[in-house]
Amino acid sequence: MKDAQPRAIYLKDYQQPDYWIETTALSFELGEESTLVTSTLNFKLNDTKTHAQLPELTLVGENMELVSVAIDGAVLSGDQYKVDSEQLVLQPQSEAFETYIVTRIKPQENTSLEGLYKSGGMFCTQCEAEGFRKITYYLDRPDVMSIFTTTVIGDKDKYPVLLSNGNAIERKDLDDGRHMVTWNDPFKKPAYLFALVGGNLEFIEDTFTTMSGREVTLRIFVEPHNITKCDHAMRSLKKSMKWDEEVYGREYDLDIFMIVAVDDFNMGAMENKGLNIFNSTCVLARPDNATDAAHERIDAIVAHEYFHNWSGNRVTCRDWFQLSLKEGFTVFRDAEYTADMYSRTVKRIQDVNFLRSAQFVEDAGPMAHPIRPESFIEISNFYTLTVYEKGAEVVRMIHSIVGSEGFRKGSDLYFDRHDGQAVTTEDFVAAMEDANGVDLSQFKRWYSQAGTPVLDVSDSYDEDAQEYSLTIKQSCPATPGQDTKLPFHIPVAIGLLDGEGEPMPLNGEGETTVVLDLKEPEQTFTFKADERPLPSLLRGFSAPVKVNYDYSREDLIFLMSHDEDGFNRWDSCQRLAINVLMELVADIQAGRELAVDPQLLAAYGKVLADESLDLAMIAEMLLLPSETLLAEQMDVIDVDAIHQAREFVRGAIAEAHKERLQQIYNSLNVDKPYQAEPEDIAERRLKNIALSYLVELDDAASVELAQAQFAAASNMTDSIAALSNLIGAVHESGKAVAEQALAEFAEKWADDTNVMNMWFSTQVTDSRFGTLAKVRELMEHPGFDKKNPNKMRSLVSGYCSGNLVNFHNISGESYEFLADEVIRIDALNPQLASRLINPLTRWKRYDEKRRELMLAALKRIQQQDLSKDLFEVVSKSLA
Ligand code: PHE
Ligand code: ZN
Repeated sequence: MKDAQPRAIYLKDYQQPDYWIETTALSFELGEESTLVTSTLNFKLNDTKTHAQLPELTLVGENMELVSVAIDGAVLSGDQYKVDSEQLVLQPQSEAFETYIVTRIKPQENTSLEGLYKSGGMFCTQCEAEGFRKITYYLDRPDVMSIFTTTVIGDKDKYPVLLSNGNAIERKDLDDGRHMVTWNDPFKKPAYLFALVGGNLEFIEDTFTTMSGREVTLRIFVEPHNITKCDHAMRSLKKSMKWDEEVYGREYDLDIFMIVAVDDFNMGAMENKGLNIFNSTCVLARPDNATDAAHERIDAIVAHEYFHNWSGNRVTCRDWFQLSLKEGFTVFRDAEYTADMYSRTVKRIQDVNFLRSAQFVEDAGPMAHPIRPESFIEISNFYTLTVYEKGAEVVRMIHSIVGSEGFRKGSDLYFDRHDGQAVTTEDFVAAMEDANGVDLSQFKRWYSQAGTPVLDVSDSYDEDAQEYSLTIKQSCPATPGQDTKLPFHIPVAIGLLDGEGEPMPLNGEGETTVVLDLKEPEQTFTFKADERPLPSLLRGFSAPVKVNYDYSREDLIFLMSHDEDGFNRWDSCQRLAINVLMELVADIQAGRELAVDPQLLAAYGKVLADESLDLAMIAEMLLLPSETLLAEQMDVIDVDAIHQAREFVRGAIAEAHKERLQQIYNSLNVDKPYQAEPEDIAERRLKNIALSYLVELDDAASVELAQAQFAAASNMTDSIAALSNLIGAVHESGKAVAEQALAEFAEKWADDTNVMNMWFSTQVTDSRFGTLAKVRELMEHPGFDKKNPNKMRSLVSGYCSGNLVNFHNISGESYEFLADEVIRIDALNPQLASRLINPLTRWKRYDEKRRELMLAALKRIQQQDLSKDLFEVVSKSLA
C-alpha cells in the first residue's frame, strides 16, 4: 500500500477557487528525451469570495520537474514557493498577477496515457478528467475557464504536423531544423479540453457550410498508412453538424474542426475544443476492414464528440460530480441522432439491451452510484455506464415529460443562459422547468439516488363498471451508502390491447399510448374498457426500471405479434425467452431431462415467417438474451447451466427451423457493393444470425456454407462473421477449417492493428476454442502488445467478460490470470487496470467455492502497492 490511504472528495465540499485564470499561454518544445513546457498565466482574485488577506495559490502538478518560476517578471528563489510531488504553492502579492513557469516532462515515459504522451511516433494529449496536471502546474478543475494560446515547437521532419485547439495564427521555421506553430482558441475553456498533437500525419479535408453561411474546414489526421480509412468518419461528421443545427439549432463556432486518430487511448474518443482525439477503433473504417457494427459505432462516436462542442464545451461542468450533465445529455443526443439516421426501434432495443446487461449490473454491484455521485476517490472510475447510459435515460425521461417541443425550449434556454459557464445538473433541470412551467423537484431524485427501481404491476377488471385498473408499486434496492430510497417520479408509458390485439383508446383524444406519472410508492390508474385488456407496459422503455407483471407465455406470444409498440414486441420476445431459458436452467440444476417448450419454437417460427416485420426487427428478435443478462436473473449465478441451457435452445431453434433459416440465408447471401446503410446492414445481420443458427447443427453442410462465405466475403462484416461461425461450428469438420481460416486471416491483416484486435477477441470469446491456454498463447503473438489498451481489452476483457464458462472455470486459474494482469497493468496504466478488474468485483454473486477463489484473487491484488484508481475499486468491492 502507498504511504497514505487515498482520500475521498465530496460534492458537499465544493467551493469556488480563490483565483481565476484569465489567459493561458503555453509553449511546448517537443524533444526526444524530454519536453519543455513554458506557461504564462494571468490570474485574478475571485472577488465573489471573502478574503481576509490574499490567499495562497495552490497549483496542481504531477510527474514533472520544475525548472523555474516567476511572478510578474521576478524569478522566485527556493524559499519563495513550496513544491512537492503533487503541487506548487505560491504567495501572490496582488489581486492580479502573471506567473511564468517552466517545467520539464517526459512524454516518452508516460504509459498512463494521461497528460502528454507518445502513441507510435506521435505526440498527443489526453487531459480529461485530471490529465492536464501532468503537463504543467495549473488550476486543473473544470470551473476555471481560460483563453488558451499554444505554441508547439518540434523537429520539422519528424513532426511536420503540429496541432492545438482553435485557429492557427502563426507558423514559422526555426534555424535548427525545427518549426513552430501557434494556435489560439478564442473560447474560454477548462484545461480538460486542452489538446496538442505533433506527428508525421496525413489528412483528408472537406468543408461544411453552417446555417449562418460560414464555411468550416474539416480535417481528419491519421498516420499515412491509414489515410484510406477516413471517409466514413468524415461523412458522419458532416451529418452530425447538420443534425445539430436542425434538431437543436446549434452551430459550430470555429473556422476549423479537426479529428486525430491514435492507437493508444484509454477511452473511445475525446471532445477537446476544435481538436477531437479518437481511439483509432472509433474513427478508422473501410468496407473491407471494419464491420457494420464498427461503422455504426464510428458514426455515433463522431456525432457524440461533435455534439459535446455545445453540451460540454460551450457549457461545461462546474465540478466532476456533474459529469452526467455533459455525458448523459450528449449520449441522449447521439442516441437520437442514430435513431434518426438508422432505425429508431432497433437503436432503442440495442441501447436497452446494453443498459440491462451492463448498467443494471453496475447499479446492483459494489460500485453502484447515482448519476451524480456524492463522493469519489478517483474520478476516472466514474466514467461509468451509470453516468453515461443511465444519465442519458434520465435526460430521455425529461424529454418524455415535457415533450419534444418543450425539450427544445428547455435546451435553448439552457444553452442561452449558460453559454461560457461551468454549471451543474441542477441548472440543466432548472432550464427545463423554467422553459416549460413544470415542477421536476421529485424527478431530481434520479440524480441523487442509485439503484434500479422495480415496478410490481398488478391489474383488475370490473365487468360491471367496465373499468380496468393497473396498480403499480415502486421500490428500489439498497445500494452502498443508501439503505432506503424515496419514491421516484417515473414516467410509465403504457397501452392496452383488446382480445383481437387492437389498441384500445385510453382517453378522450383516442390516444392509444399514454404516459402515467408514477410518483407514489403505490398508485392505481383506471381506464374505461369494454373488455378485459392485456397491458403493454413501459412502452419504448420509458424509464430505466425493471417491470414485474405476471404475463403468461400465451400473453407474451400475443404481444409479440400484436403490440403496436415495436420495442415491446421485441421485449415480449425477450421475456418469453428468458422465461423458457430460466426454466431450463432449473431443470439442469435438478438433473431433469431437457425439452424446449414448443410454444417458444413456434413463436420463433412465426417471427421467421412474418412478412410484416422488417429484417432488422427479425434479427433483433432472433437473438436470445445474452449469458450476462441471464446471469442477472439468478441469485447465485450458475454459468455452466446458463451456457448449457442457451446452447440447448439455440440448437433446438436451428433444428426446428432449419429450412427457413437456410432459405433466409440464401436469399440474403447476394454479392453487392458494400454500403453502411440501414437496409444493407439489416440484411447482413439477419443473414449472419441465420448462419450462426445453422452452424449449431451437427451438419457438414453448415460448415461449408461458412467456409464459402469466408472465401467469398468482400466486406469485414461477412468475413469476421464467417470466421466466428467456423470457430463456433458444432460439426467436427469445423475445427480444421477454422484453423485454416484463422491463419489466412492473420496473414492478410497482419498490418492492420484494429482488424487483428477482432481476430484476437473472436477466438477467445468462444467457449470451446477460447481456453485460458489460448489466451496465453495469443498474448505472445507478434501482433499483440501487452501495454496497448485496445489489445488488452480485446484479449483479456474479451475472455474474462465474454467467455463466462471458461473464465469461471472452477479451477480458479482464470481468476489468478486476471489478477496477475491487473497487477502488471496497474504499474503502467491505472485507468486500464481498474477497468480490467471488473469481472472479479462481482464475486458475491457466485457459489461458495468460486466466491472464495475470486476473493483470494482480489485480496492478492489488495496487498500490492496500488494506484488510486485500483485502490478505490478493490476496496469498494471488498467492503
Ligand atoms: N469525454 C469523453 C467522451 O465521452 C470520454 C473520455 C473521458 C475520454 C476521459 C478520455 C478520458 O466523449
Ligand atoms: Zn462524452
